[in-house]
Amino acid sequence: MCGIIGAIGNKNIVPTLIESLKRLEYRGYDSAGIAAVVNHDIQRRRTVGKISELANSLASSPIESNVGIGHTRWATHGKPSVANAHPHASDTVALVHNGIIENHSSLRHDLEKKGYVFSSETDTETVVHLITDELKKGKTPLSAVKDALKQLEGSFAFGIIFKDSPDTLIGAKKGSPLAIGKKDGCVFLGSDAIALSAETNDVIYLEDGDVVELNENSITIYDKNDKIVERELHKNVISGDSVGKDPYAHFMLKEIYEQPIAISKTFASLMTSNRNIDAAKIPVDWSRISKITILACGTASYAGLVSKYWFEQLARIPVEYDVASEFRYREAAMAKDGLTIVISQSGETADTLAAMKYAKEQGQKILSIVNVLHSSIARNSDIVIPTLAGAEIGVASTKAFTTQLTVLLMLALNAAQNKNTISRNALQETLAAISDLPAKIEAALQESDSIKEIAEKIKSANSALYLGRGSLFPIALEGALKLKEISYIHAEGYPAGEMKHGPIALVDEHMPIVVLAPSDNLFDKTASNIQEVAARNGKVILVSDTEGYKKLSDKAADSIIVPSANKNVLPILYVVSLQILAYWCALKRGNDVDQPRNLAKSVTVE
Ligand code: F6R
Repeated sequence: MCGIIGAIGNKNIVPTLIESLKRLEYRGYDSAGIAAVVNHDIQRRRTVGKISELANSLASSPIESNVGIGHTRWATHGKPSVANAHPHASDTVALVHNGIIENHSSLRHDLEKKGYVFSSETDTETVVHLITDELKKGKTPLSAVKDALKQLEGSFAFGIIFKDSPDTLIGAKKGSPLAIGKKDGCVFLGSDAIALSAETNDVIYLEDGDVVELNENSITIYDKNDKIVERELHKNVISGDSVGKDPYAHFMLKEIYEQPIAISKTFASLMTSNRNIDAAKIPVDWSRISKITILACGTASYAGLVSKYWFEQLARIPVEYDVASEFRYREAAMAKDGLTIVISQSGETADTLAAMKYAKEQGQKILSIVNVLHSSIARNSDIVIPTLAGAEIGVASTKAFTTQLTVLLMLALNAAQNKNTISRNALQETLAAISDLPAKIEAALQESDSIKEIAEKIKSANSALYLGRGSLFPIALEGALKLKEISYIHAEGYPAGEMKHGPIALVDEHMPIVVLAPSDNLFDKTASNIQEVAARNGKVILVSDTEGYKKLSDKAADSIIVPSANKNVLPILYVVSLQILAYWCALKRGNDVDQPRNLAKSVTVE
């Protein structure tokens, strides 16, 4: 989604704007731009494509200024073009925006009637003219912004500069995230802590309805009631270094290889020193929970779907699962004494936030699992359990997913322990299996070269199927999603047992069918499905342990070996091989693995 940055200080801030925009690249974008005040004039540079294009444009036509704003745009209203790229400007004001102005058509109509001329198709440009109109009435920049905001419906984070007030940078937030930082005579605003990472050690997260006025040495925040307020200062846990990808070729690859350490840290954060689950970190009385509702989007939702199997099998708690974009509008009846678990890497996904709000209004207790600690979802939850994955930059989620699974399994075990539905032995065995996961994942990653060879064989496929049973069915969904998003090969995840009810008609000698078949209680069932596919000349890629390989490899065109492990941790282990398969397929097709086309990292609009 769009990323915004702004800076004001005692030095030329243009290089800082460019650096910060580079750090925002991970959010996904199609054009970029900056604006700055130079000698009572607003100067802009905007380009379509990568930040390097913008840097080249600045190199040939430099700008120096003490106050400016920058933007990476992920197109919503109007195609990617220079005219639609931010910052948008009039001759008195320039601004950058993340979010959507829902009443932009009627505002545009009224402004055009007043004689304002639009040069873009965007919703954002209406706000430029609204503020300009308020300034014409003789208002200060701050009052002009506040009065313009009153006319807006929708979501926004803004950074705004003024031709005639080179000592002022204004920010405003409603629905979209906005963070503020300060360092060495400069003050910054940005979409997230990553944008500010090289610049500041401390970060303030604005609340909805806040307007902030920034000067070289001061930060003044007005809340939704127009009262001056202080907002809590947080350590910026993201350092400049932690957002580099060295020595890996891509962030996605680095993040796949970081999974052992990320899982290990997340596991340790929920354990006591004497190897028990740290119940103090999970303040839920599970015996009083009548039902769990799990809400999330995309990959995070598949983590939720895996946990449905865990909560039901281990703790005997009924679970309802839904994708947040559907849940938010279906007026679901919710159980009394229900717990809603919300899962989100970014903590800012608009659909997830809206679904969570509905659940809250229905009297549900909200437990969230987030990777970005001070995100909107975290701030609006009753209980927050962080995943300790560190910054995830690759658009395709990997380590956030496996750490979400780790937390969810720990919650299910804690619930089972609380409700006496698990034996002490079974509990200790599963905890030991989670503790062994980092080593097993490292072993699974040793297969990367042979997975690369399989990728070479399937890279030209038009379509692929992923099959799994039980808690590996959501992993089939996730494997298919990973392949779709970065290799652009159509793929579908399916419960293996459903094949014969339709999809088997698709089987031919061209379509790869990735089958997840660990040697567990469902192995024989999945083996039958493999036989059915093989009998129709289907190209099976078997993903199994050594035992499964021995039994079934003759039916498969290729095999990926995964270490054997306790049944409960298999979803966390098996997904790693599928991440690597998608990675190599995408690379062999020449795709941009970290910034796949059309995708954004943090989806802050509906
Ligand atoms: C896929 C992916 C997305 C996200 C989804 C939710 O690789 O990353 O499907 O999982 O957009 O995002 P968060 O977890 O930030 O709420």
